[in-house]
Amino acid sequence: MSSSPDPTEHPPYDQTAEWYDAIYQAKGRDCALEIQRISHHWSGDGCTSESRRILDAGCGSGAHLSALGAHGRVTGVDQSAAMLEMAARRRASHQLFQSDLLELDLEDRFDLVVSLFGVCGYLADRAQLHSALSRLGRHVLPGGTLLVEPPLLAENFQAPRRAYVETRLGASTLSRSTNSRRVGTHLELEFEWRQRFDEAASDDRLIRERHRMLLLSSEAWLDVATAALGGRFEVRIDPEGPIGRGLLVAISLDGVRGSG
Ligand SMILES: C[S@@+](CC[C@H](N)C(=O)[O-])C[C@H]1O[C@@H](n2cnc3c(N)ncnc32)[C@H](O)[C@@H]1O
Repeated sequence: MSSSPDPTEHPPYDQTAEWYDAIYQAKGRDCALEIQRISHHWSGDGCTSESRRILDAGCGSGAHLSALGAHGRVTGVDQSAAMLEMAARRRASHQLFQSDLLELDLEDRFDLVVSLFGVCGYLADRAQLHSALSRLGRHVLPGGTLLVEPPLLAENFQAPRRAYVETRLGASTLSRSTNSRRVGTHLELEFEWRQRFDEAASDDRLIRERHRMLLLSSEAWLDVATAALGGRFEVRIDPEGPIGRGLLVAISLDGVRGSG
């Protein structure tokens, strides 16, 4: 370990974007399977993989970009420059933009808008969730689909938990330990990331992050989404979604596809 590990708490993903994929790969994440599990939500939308336009809102390191690419032309957006840099390294022919979902205005609309793996959970409260869902809704073409995966539905929350995952990364061992607990209407995750080099111990790193996420019931997600999407969408919850944590499904009821 380096002589003085940095005890500071860093903003989520600021310092750890380059470790994100390695840790989730070690946890057995299969993004192609995740997309396959939810593709029935858009498979009847009348588009083909050549014509469908897809927005991945909160694309992060681009974990889903290539799997989504099999279903259409994908645009990714995220607020984190560090995560977008990882997405760009995938060298796929996707368009990437940096934006906060609360200010999202791409002056464009899509047949399919997805926001996966708890992105909207990072919003501070229900009012912000309402604003972000409303912005996402405005990016959906008439007849299109909006899919938003909550971080965790409140009814599925289990008592405070600890988790640990470790993997090899080049000539180092990367680990992440997690403490999770419920704090009122939020889920708080404390991450401690460590990278230990085989030889140059002076390069070892310790990064602490606190992720604070909305912990709302499926009923609350439905309420906020119904209000935010203003009756222009049919809204429901798929209790499974890509990884069994549920999925908000909103299908646009507006006129004929392509009119906007
Ligand atoms: C858990 S990661 C999920 C990334 C990706 N969707 C995936 O499945 O791996 C959460 C992502 O949401 C992004 N994010 C959080 N709040 C955001 C906001 N208000 N606007 C845009 N992106 C946001 C973070 O930068 C991060 O990349």
